[in-house]
Amino acid sequence: MAERPETTLITAGRDPEANHGIVNTPIYHASTVTFPSAQALREATAKPFDGVYYGRHGTPTTFAFEEAVAALDSGYSRAVSTSSGLASITTAMLTLVESGDHILVADSVYGPTRSFCDETLTRLGITTEYYDPLIADGIADLIRPNTRLVFCESPGSLTFEVQDIPAIVAAAHAAGCQVLLDNTWATPLFFRAHEHGVDICIHAATKYLVGHADAMLGVITTSDEAGFLAIKRTAVRLGQCAGPDACWLGLRGMRSLAARLARHQESTMVLASWLQQQPSVEGLLYPALENDQGYRLWQRDFSGATGLFGVVLKTAPQAAVDALVDGMQYFALGYSWGGYESLILPANGGIQRNHLDPEAGFSLERPVLRIHVGLEAVSDLQDDLAAGLARFEKSLVNQR
Ligand SMILES: Cc1ncc(COP(=O)(O)O)c(C=O)c1O
Repeated sequence: MAERPETTLITAGRDPEANHGIVNTPIYHASTVTFPSAQALREATAKPFDGVYYGRHGTPTTFAFEEAVAALDSGYSRAVSTSSGLASITTAMLTLVESGDHILVADSVYGPTRSFCDETLTRLGITTEYYDPLIADGIADLIRPNTRLVFCESPGSLTFEVQDIPAIVAAAHAAGCQVLLDNTWATPLFFRAHEHGVDICIHAATKYLVGHADAMLGVITTSDEAGFLAIKRTAVRLGQCAGPDACWLGLRGMRSLAARLARHQESTMVLASWLQQQPSVEGLLYPALENDQGYRLWQRDFSGATGLFGVVLKTAPQAAVDALVDGMQYFALGYSWGGYESLILPANGGIQRNHLDPEAGFSLERPVLRIHVGLEAVSDLQDDLAAGLARFEKSLVNQR
């Protein structure tokens, strides 16, 4: 009988029998690891990625977190953790590319991913081409003989376009390219990346996996052992490693992931449906809504929606948007998301685009807010947003 992911979240990455019956894997702090003999040292050195070898290569806590994510992601049985989500993105990309390569990156990617491509990869002689995230199998026309990888993020950061990952995978694989996916929004619970053909899947565990806004952590899973070994080698060469405390917080967060996401989803549906009816709101960017341009693909490929979405407001000066966000009681202003608490962010400044599909559901002229719905009582959150929209309208009237 196949185990359900909700159960894997509870069972993976711990072994009470091997640990005095204690339920949770302890936190192992380590740099030095000692060996009982010269022969044991030689054997460990010959296989530096197997077992406990040196702190930077991982400790039992690191391995437990990595194994838990790998088990949930249903790809290869091991994963590579890094010091942040962005470090997972850069480590995975650097594993694959070399000078002279061309890479295809979704136009809707997380801003720092874009900066890494534009600044660091450009300096290394790698050309990035941004493609329309709604391109689907049209990606085939952009693949060149030197295209090494196709990078996806679905839904996209700030604008939430859902990508047709199976169509992109089919076209990329036919041309010998690997597909990388930043799956942070959906988590392994709501989008099964490797089952949809993705070769390398990246999670900014900082968000929902940790879930409590108290650690920076990234993790990379792969579809096969060769992918894992290649990424592990790069991570070790870059000196990339996640601290044991962060990995332990990642493991702790995962135990409640299914319960938290169910609540995030439920409250977000309530608020998104209500926001759609408000006169100040021009539209919502949330693929779980039936009228969202991404709904069909979301329904086909995902098993749930999380608590992050966009709100497109009607045209307004900056002062009206400031009036809305400045007086919030529960929605704090801040970067990041995926914790237990609600957040709000004016998003326009972060949206960078080479392609703007008319179907995308937003325009760069309208104010866009990014909202993360936390675990507070949804009626309190709705009251807070209603008061914010009232401040927005009042500011518009005052400026006439
Ligand atoms: C979609 C997405 N990917 C990656 C990251 C990077 O994660 P971290 O902040 O852990 O580096 C973020 C952070 O906001 C993100 O939103």
